[in-house]
Amino acid sequence: PRVLLLNGPNLNLLGSRDPRQYGSVTLAEIERHVQTLGAELGAAVECAQSNHEGELVEHVHRARELDGVVYNPGAFAHYSIALRDAIEAVDVPCVEVHISNVYAREAFRHTSVTAPVCQGYIAGCGPVGYDLGLRAVLARIEERRA
Ligand code: DQA
Repeated sequence: PRVLLLNGPNLNLLGSRDPRQYGSVTLAEIERHVQTLGAELGAAVECAQSNHEGELVEHVHRARELDGVVYNPGAFAHYSIALRDAIEAVDVPCVEVHISNVYAREAFRHTSVTAPVCQGYIAGCGPVGYDLGLRAVLARIEERRA
């Protein structure tokens, strides 16, 4: 299977951004790690990151040619109806990941408008959440094929 690992706004700053919330690993390290895990599990992982809502929407559209998406929408999770509609429109399993425990933070982070159209949701597990997300999306892909 082919899986898109998609990261939204400000996640390019991982490593230096608020390490108490997000740890010290960089996005490049996370991407390499998930690609290595993907190779072990027989999946090709393509990586993309954007700070722009419309570009993220277009990445989700392009995922129609793939089998699944693991994505961290960043703050767009909390209010981007456009991103939600894009995920709903493509018939591709999607697992949402948040590095931090959004429920232990400000109230505005407790809502995800995108999560209801995803197959799974992971928060507060640190960068390991991306590994869990990959395993989860591969299980969903497997289910669909069965
Ligand atoms: C985040 C949580 C969001 O609330 C925040 O806006 C982010 C990162 C996370 O991975 O924990 O940009 O998605």
